[in-house]
Amino acid sequence: MKTIVVVMGVSGSGKTTVAAMLAGTLGANFLEGDDLHPRANVEKMRSGTPLDDADRLPWLRRIADWIGERERAGRSGVVSCSALRRRYRDLLRDGHSSVRFALLLADPDVLDARLRARSGHFMPASLLGSQLATLDPLEADEPGSTHAAGVPVDVLVSAVLAALPPARQA
Ligand SMILES: Nc1ncnc2c1ncn2[C@@H]1O[C@H](COP(=O)(O)OP(=O)(O)OP(=O)(O)O)[C@@H](O)[C@H]1O
Ligand SMILES: [Mg+2]
Repeated sequence: MKTIVVVMGVSGSGKTTVAAMLAGTLGANFLEGDDLHPRANVEKMRSGTPLDDADRLPWLRRIADWIGERERAGRSGVVSCSALRRRYRDLLRDGHSSVRFALLLADPDVLDARLRARSGHFMPASLLGSQLATLDPLEADEPGSTHAAGVPVDVLVSAVLAALPPARQA
């Protein structure tokens, strides 16, 4: 059984960075979840307005469709997607038994510093507060693992990898 890893967390937690490296390590397909946002969502975030559930639903459905395609193709995959709320994660997992979540957590100060240092990305640091307020931690009945993300990227990727069930690490 192939695995689809959803690397999740608030802006600045390192989803894109970690997911890309993890996909390379696993030889899996990588999807930048932000690439599936409707243009209006990107403009809304760029202007400093948080997305609401209605904005996020079509985006999450597109990501769920990508997960389904990977499953049908018998391919593993890694996707970066904030998946902040439990119900968003339930939508991604619905009918997709291969999904495992990797939640990246870091101190707000660390996240803020990373976002301020980053350039060329639409997400403003001003949205961090609403992201943190929206995040539901992973619950015990959800498949996945939670990681302290204030460590070097390669250490984090190794930790995410080690938390996958043994048969799914290759
Ligand atoms: N473990 C890490 N240690 C130090 N810097 C990191 C780490 N992970 C990511 N970064 C840096 O922090 C910034 C944010 O990382 P990244 O863009 O991967 O976050 P993200 O969760 O995808 O954010 P967004 O939701 O806004 O897309 C980048 O400049 C990245 O290089
Ligand atoms: Mg990203």
